[in-house]
Amino acid sequence: MENNDQLNKNQKEDVGKLRHLIKDQIKKEKKEYKKLISEEIDSKKKKELKKEAKNLFKFGKLPEEKIDPGYVIELKDVQKYYFMSKNNYEHILKGINLKIRPGEVVIILGMSGSGKTTLLNIISGLTNFNEGSVRVLDRDLFYLNENKKTKFRADHIAFVFQSYNLIQSLTVSENIKIGENLRPKIKEKIDVNEILNSLDLLEQKHKYPFQLSGGQQQRVSIGRALAKNPTILFADEPTGALDEEKGKEAIRMILNINKIFKTTLIIVTHNPNFATVGDHIIRIKNGEIIEDYYNQNKVSVNDIKWT
Ligand SMILES: Nc1ncnc2c1ncn2[C@@H]1O[C@H](COP(=O)(O)OP(=O)(O)OP(=O)(O)O)[C@@H](O)[C@H]1O
Ligand SMILES: [Mg+2]
Repeated sequence: MENNDQLNKNQKEDVGKLRHLIKDQIKKEKKEYKKLISEEIDSKKKKELKKEAKNLFKFGKLPEEKIDPGYVIELKDVQKYYFMSKNNYEHILKGINLKIRPGEVVIILGMSGSGKTTLLNIISGLTNFNEGSVRVLDRDLFYLNENKKTKFRADHIAFVFQSYNLIQSLTVSENIKIGENLRPKIKEKIDVNEILNSLDLLEQKHKYPFQLSGGQQQRVSIGRALAKNPTILFADEPTGALDEEKGKEAIRMILNINKIFKTTLIIVTHNPNFATVGDHIIRIKNGEIIEDYYNQNKVSVNDIKWT
């Protein structure tokens, strides 16, 4: 196999597509091997089959490309299809290329249905992609199996979801504590009361999510992310259910996480007025990036025009 550096752009694209084809093929063959192995009664033959299956996987491993130095996220020509049936599919992401530096506040803008959540889920390894490559930190997500992806998320990533994703059977305090438990290395104990206080939730701390307003639930979800102190924080429409005052407060809190911990923030929204508080603005339309620039005139949250 040629050295990666020698591959020209077209060849690289071909390799990108090939990796996915090979992966699918290997998946099929692994399944067949699994069946053969389970049916084989001769232990010697069983061993041989296992060895073959293992080699098959090694053979399918094409060279990994390293992430460009100085970046935490790099996507190249990412394509995503949703298949309704074999011949009926929707092309959701159409060749996404983007690069994000550590500590950036990234705002991803786009109308409803443009592919924002899909993109975010792909970067965080929650959804598979069909073509292209996704590298986050030093991982090539293409090569991580589900267990490794889960570990990768546990170690580095937190979410503030569009739907709050709170655990209904736990109180506000307990939901925030979960963030601490998700922390990879607990260096210092967090003060849940301090977080509750900063989010104006102290009085609600013993309540369950169904006893909270939408805004309060959203703040619990921010609190949980704060408690985790991740490398990258994804926030999907963090102000979706909030009025101006509460919405600005939520954004302020999320931006504070970036200020204090230098966390890379990826904030998804359909409200273009938020672009003004970000460092790096990416606009997406019908599954394509139509604008990608660095914002030279950052404004404070107070100055966001809400409507
Ligand atoms: N699991 C799925 N199966 C099929 N189609 C899907 C699936 N998830 C999303 N889609 C489709 O993909 C497109 C993009 O959806 P996505 O959720 O990424 O949009 P969005 O930009 O986040 O929109 P919103 O602002 O409304 O949250 C939509 O047309 C949606 O219907
Ligand atoms: Mg969405």
